[in-house]
Amino acid sequence: TPEAGRVVFENVTFGFPGAEKPVIKNVSFAAEPGKTTAIIGSTGAGKTVLLNLALRLYDPQQGSITVDGAPVSELTRDQLADTLSLVPQRPYMFSGTIGSNLRFGRTAATDEELWEALRVAQGEDFVRERELGLDEPVSQGGTSVSGGQRQRLSIARALVSKPKVYLFDDSFSALDVATDARLRAALPSATQGATTIIVAQRVSTITDADQILVIEGGEIVGRGTHDELLGSNEVYQEIVRS
Ligand code: CTP
Ligand code: MG
Repeated sequence: TPEAGRVVFENVTFGFPGAEKPVIKNVSFAAEPGKTTAIIGSTGAGKTVLLNLALRLYDPQQGSITVDGAPVSELTRDQLADTLSLVPQRPYMFSGTIGSNLRFGRTAATDEELWEALRVAQGEDFVRERELGLDEPVSQGGTSVSGGQRQRLSIARALVSKPKVYLFDDSFSALDVATDARLRAALPSATQGATTIIVAQRVSTITDADQILVIEGGEIVGRGTHDELLGSNEVYQEIVRS
Protein backbone atom coordinates (compact mmCIF):
# COMPACT_ATOMS: atom_id res chain seq x y z
CA THR A 1 0.00 0.00 0.00
CA PRO A 2 1.15 3.59 -0.55
CA GLU A 3 0.89 4.11 3.21
CA ALA A 4 3.41 1.34 3.95
CA GLY A 5 5.91 2.69 6.43
CA ARG A 6 4.56 6.21 6.36
CA VAL A 7 5.15 7.89 9.74
CA VAL A 8 2.95 10.86 10.61
CA PHE A 9 3.19 13.12 13.65
CA GLU A 10 0.22 15.45 14.09
CA ASN A 11 0.36 18.24 16.65
CA VAL A 12 2.34 16.08 19.06
CA THR A 13 3.07 17.53 22.48
CA PHE A 14 4.92 15.58 25.15
CA GLY A 15 6.35 16.38 28.57
CA PHE A 16 7.91 14.08 31.10
CA PRO A 17 5.70 13.38 34.11
CA GLY A 18 6.19 16.00 36.77
CA ALA A 19 8.16 18.33 34.48
CA GLU A 20 6.93 21.89 34.15
CA LYS A 21 7.43 22.33 30.43
CA PRO A 22 6.85 19.94 27.55
CA VAL A 23 9.99 18.78 25.72
CA ILE A 24 8.11 18.27 22.43
CA LYS A 25 5.75 21.05 21.38
CA ASN A 26 3.11 20.76 18.72
CA VAL A 27 5.26 18.80 16.29
CA SER A 28 3.77 17.83 12.91
CA PHE A 29 5.52 16.14 10.02
CA ALA A 30 5.21 13.20 7.67
CA ALA A 31 8.08 10.85 6.86
CA GLU A 32 7.43 9.15 3.53
CA PRO A 33 8.35 5.65 2.35
CA GLY A 34 11.39 5.60 0.11
CA LYS A 35 12.49 8.98 1.43
CA THR A 36 14.91 10.23 4.03
CA THR A 37 13.76 12.63 6.70
CA ALA A 38 16.59 14.18 8.71
CA ILE A 39 16.28 15.78 12.12
CA ILE A 40 18.94 18.22 13.22
CA GLY A 41 19.20 20.50 16.23
CA SER A 42 21.32 21.26 19.25
CA THR A 43 21.80 18.98 22.22
CA GLY A 44 18.67 18.68 24.34
CA ALA A 45 16.44 19.86 21.48
CA GLY A 46 14.25 16.75 21.70
CA LYS A 47 15.54 14.61 18.81
CA THR A 48 15.84 11.37 20.76
CA VAL A 49 12.52 11.92 22.48
CA LEU A 50 10.87 12.31 19.05
CA LEU A 51 12.19 8.94 17.88
CA ASN A 52 11.22 7.32 21.16
CA LEU A 53 7.69 8.65 20.76
CA ALA A 54 7.43 6.89 17.38
CA LEU A 55 8.48 3.67 19.12
CA ARG A 56 5.95 4.37 21.83
CA LEU A 57 8.43 4.41 24.65
CA TYR A 58 6.24 7.28 25.79
CA ASP A 59 2.77 8.41 24.81
CA PRO A 60 2.16 12.04 23.89
CA GLN A 61 -0.17 14.17 26.00
CA GLN A 62 -1.59 15.70 22.84
CA GLY A 63 -1.69 14.85 19.18
CA SER A 64 -1.32 11.61 17.32
CA ILE A 65 1.40 9.45 15.80
CA THR A 66 0.49 6.99 13.07
CA VAL A 67 2.48 4.39 11.17
CA ASP A 68 0.96 2.88 8.04
CA GLY A 69 -2.13 4.92 8.86
CA ALA A 70 -2.64 3.18 12.21
CA PRO A 71 -2.17 5.00 15.52
CA VAL A 72 0.94 3.60 17.24
CA SER A 73 -1.13 3.55 20.43
CA GLU A 74 -3.14 0.72 18.88
CA LEU A 75 -0.16 -1.39 17.78
CA THR A 76 1.23 -4.18 19.92
CA ARG A 77 4.88 -4.24 21.00
CA ASP A 78 5.52 -6.98 18.44
CA GLN A 79 3.87 -5.05 15.62
CA LEU A 80 5.91 -1.97 16.51
CA ALA A 81 9.14 -4.00 16.71
CA ASP A 82 8.40 -5.58 13.31
CA THR A 83 7.72 -2.23 11.67
CA LEU A 84 10.29 0.16 13.12
CA SER A 85 13.97 -0.44 13.84
CA LEU A 86 15.83 2.00 16.02
CA VAL A 87 19.58 2.33 15.98
CA PRO A 88 19.90 3.97 19.38
CA GLN A 89 22.23 6.82 20.19
CA ARG A 90 24.04 4.53 22.62
CA PRO A 91 23.99 1.11 20.98
CA TYR A 92 23.99 -1.91 23.25
CA MET A 93 25.38 -5.39 22.90
CA PHE A 94 24.18 -8.54 24.58
CA SER A 95 26.43 -11.29 25.82
CA GLY A 96 26.62 -13.83 23.02
CA THR A 97 28.35 -13.70 19.68
CA ILE A 98 28.59 -11.09 16.97
CA GLY A 99 26.14 -13.22 14.96
CA SER A 100 23.58 -13.53 17.74
CA ASN A 101 23.83 -9.79 18.36
CA LEU A 102 23.08 -9.14 14.69
CA ARG A 103 20.21 -11.62 14.58
CA PHE A 104 18.72 -10.32 17.81
CA GLY A 105 15.76 -12.70 17.78
CA ARG A 106 15.65 -12.99 13.96
CA THR A 107 16.76 -16.60 14.04
CA ALA A 108 15.79 -17.04 10.40
CA ALA A 109 18.46 -14.66 9.10
CA THR A 110 21.21 -16.55 7.26
CA ASP A 111 24.93 -15.92 7.74
CA GLU A 112 24.92 -14.54 4.22
CA GLU A 113 22.33 -11.93 5.18
CA LEU A 114 24.43 -10.98 8.21
CA TRP A 115 27.53 -10.50 6.06
CA GLU A 116 25.55 -8.43 3.58
CA ALA A 117 24.28 -6.19 6.40
CA LEU A 118 27.83 -5.88 7.74
CA ARG A 119 29.08 -4.96 4.28
CA VAL A 120 26.59 -2.09 4.04
CA ALA A 121 27.25 -1.00 7.64
CA GLN A 122 31.03 -0.94 6.98
CA GLY A 123 31.54 -3.62 9.62
CA GLU A 124 32.63 -6.47 7.39
CA ASP A 125 36.38 -5.95 7.70
CA PHE A 126 36.65 -5.91 11.46
CA VAL A 127 34.39 -8.93 11.86
CA ARG A 128 36.43 -10.85 9.24
CA GLU A 129 39.56 -9.98 11.17
CA ARG A 130 38.18 -11.73 14.25
CA GLU A 131 39.34 -15.30 14.57
CA LEU A 132 35.83 -16.70 14.89
CA GLY A 133 34.08 -14.19 12.63
CA LEU A 134 30.36 -14.16 13.32
CA ASP A 135 30.90 -16.64 16.16
CA GLU A 136 33.28 -14.30 17.97
CA PRO A 137 32.04 -13.86 21.55
CA VAL A 138 30.79 -10.44 22.60
CA SER A 139 30.51 -9.53 26.25
CA GLN A 140 27.44 -7.86 27.62
CA GLY A 141 27.81 -4.12 27.11
CA GLY A 142 30.09 -4.84 24.18
CA THR A 143 33.35 -4.01 25.96
CA SER A 144 35.28 -6.04 23.40
CA VAL A 145 34.22 -3.77 20.54
CA SER A 146 34.96 -0.07 20.15
CA GLY A 147 32.25 2.57 20.16
CA GLY A 148 32.44 3.01 16.40
CA GLN A 149 32.34 -0.76 15.85
CA ARG A 150 29.37 -1.06 18.18
CA GLN A 151 27.60 1.62 16.19
CA ARG A 152 28.20 -0.23 12.92
CA LEU A 153 27.05 -3.54 14.43
CA SER A 154 23.93 -1.79 15.62
CA ILE A 155 23.27 -0.43 12.11
CA ALA A 156 23.83 -3.92 10.68
CA ARG A 157 21.37 -5.32 13.24
CA ALA A 158 18.70 -2.91 12.00
CA LEU A 159 19.41 -3.86 8.38
CA VAL A 160 19.04 -7.57 9.20
CA SER A 161 15.55 -6.94 10.55
CA LYS A 162 14.45 -5.33 7.23
CA PRO A 163 11.92 -2.97 8.79
CA LYS A 164 9.57 -0.61 6.98
CA VAL A 165 10.93 2.25 9.07
CA TYR A 166 14.55 2.95 10.06
CA LEU A 167 15.24 5.31 12.92
CA PHE A 168 18.91 6.30 13.13
CA ASP A 169 19.65 8.28 16.28
CA ASP A 170 22.95 10.00 15.70
CA SER A 171 24.28 6.72 14.31
CA PHE A 172 27.07 8.12 12.18
CA SER A 173 28.83 10.55 14.53
CA ALA A 174 31.31 8.04 15.99
CA LEU A 175 32.47 7.17 12.47
CA ASP A 176 35.30 8.94 10.74
CA VAL A 177 34.21 11.09 7.82
CA ALA A 178 35.36 8.58 5.16
CA THR A 179 33.52 5.65 6.78
CA ASP A 180 30.45 7.81 7.29
CA ALA A 181 30.49 8.69 3.59
CA ARG A 182 30.92 5.06 2.47
CA LEU A 183 28.13 3.92 4.74
CA ARG A 184 25.72 6.55 3.53
CA ALA A 185 26.57 5.73 -0.07
CA ALA A 186 25.73 2.05 0.56
CA LEU A 187 22.61 2.69 2.63
CA PRO A 188 20.04 3.81 0.02
CA SER A 189 20.02 0.60 -2.01
CA ALA A 190 19.97 -1.50 1.18
CA THR A 191 17.02 0.42 2.64
CA GLN A 192 15.21 1.01 -0.66
CA GLY A 193 11.50 1.63 -0.26
CA ALA A 194 11.74 2.01 3.52
CA THR A 195 11.06 5.18 5.46
CA THR A 196 14.31 6.53 6.86
CA ILE A 197 14.52 9.01 9.70
CA ILE A 198 18.03 10.18 10.56
CA VAL A 199 18.97 12.27 13.58
CA ALA A 200 22.33 13.85 12.83
CA GLN A 201 24.95 16.10 14.31
CA ARG A 202 26.97 16.70 11.17
CA VAL A 203 25.26 18.59 8.36
CA SER A 204 27.38 16.62 5.88
CA THR A 205 25.48 13.48 6.93
CA ILE A 206 22.12 14.87 5.83
CA THR A 207 22.70 17.20 2.88
CA ASP A 208 21.07 14.64 0.58
CA ALA A 209 17.96 14.18 2.72
CA ASP A 210 14.60 14.68 1.01
CA GLN A 211 13.40 16.69 3.98
CA ILE A 212 15.27 18.21 6.91
CA LEU A 213 13.51 19.20 10.11
CA VAL A 214 15.31 21.74 12.28
CA ILE A 215 14.32 21.32 15.89
CA GLU A 216 14.96 23.69 18.74
CA GLY A 217 13.50 23.58 22.23
CA GLY A 218 11.15 20.78 21.19
CA GLU A 219 9.70 22.72 18.27
CA ILE A 220 10.20 22.46 14.55
CA VAL A 221 11.69 25.82 13.60
CA GLY A 222 12.52 25.00 10.01
CA ARG A 223 11.88 22.44 7.33
CA GLY A 224 13.02 21.92 3.79
CA THR A 225 15.94 20.61 1.80
CA HIS A 226 19.52 21.55 2.62
CA ASP A 227 19.58 24.24 -0.06
CA GLU A 228 16.23 25.69 0.98
CA LEU A 229 17.22 25.87 4.65
CA LEU A 230 20.65 27.24 3.84
CA GLY A 231 19.00 30.15 2.08
CA SER A 232 16.26 30.88 4.57
CA ASN A 233 16.71 29.43 8.05
CA GLU A 234 18.88 31.20 10.60
CA VAL A 235 19.05 28.28 13.01
CA TYR A 236 20.17 25.99 10.18
CA GLN A 237 22.71 28.53 8.97
CA GLU A 238 24.09 28.66 12.50
CA ILE A 239 24.37 24.84 12.64
CA VAL A 240 26.18 24.83 9.29
CA ARG A 241 28.63 27.48 10.53
CA SER A 242 29.39 25.72 13.83
N1 CTP B 1 14.73 14.64 29.00
C1 CTP B 1 14.21 14.38 30.26
N2 CTP B 1 14.10 13.08 30.71
C2 CTP B 1 14.51 12.05 29.93
C3 CTP B 1 15.06 12.29 28.65
C4 CTP B 1 15.16 13.62 28.22
O1 CTP B 1 13.81 15.30 30.96
N3 CTP B 1 14.40 10.80 30.37
C5 CTP B 1 14.80 16.02 28.50
C6 CTP B 1 16.21 16.49 28.26
O2 CTP B 1 16.76 17.06 29.41
C7 CTP B 1 16.04 17.52 27.17
C8 CTP B 1 14.79 17.06 26.43
O3 CTP B 1 14.16 16.09 27.26
O4 CTP B 1 15.78 18.78 27.72
C9 CTP B 1 15.08 16.47 25.08
O5 CTP B 1 16.00 15.41 25.23
P1 CTP B 1 16.55 14.56 24.02
O6 CTP B 1 15.47 14.26 23.08
O7 CTP B 1 17.29 13.39 24.59
O8 CTP B 1 17.58 15.58 23.33
P2 CTP B 1 18.42 15.38 21.99
O9 CTP B 1 17.97 16.39 21.02
O10 CTP B 1 18.37 13.96 21.58
O11 CTP B 1 19.90 15.77 22.47
P3 CTP B 1 21.31 15.12 22.06
O12 CTP B 1 21.72 15.75 20.77
O13 CTP B 1 22.23 15.52 23.15
O14 CTP B 1 21.16 13.65 21.97
MG1 MG C 1 19.68 12.44 21.49
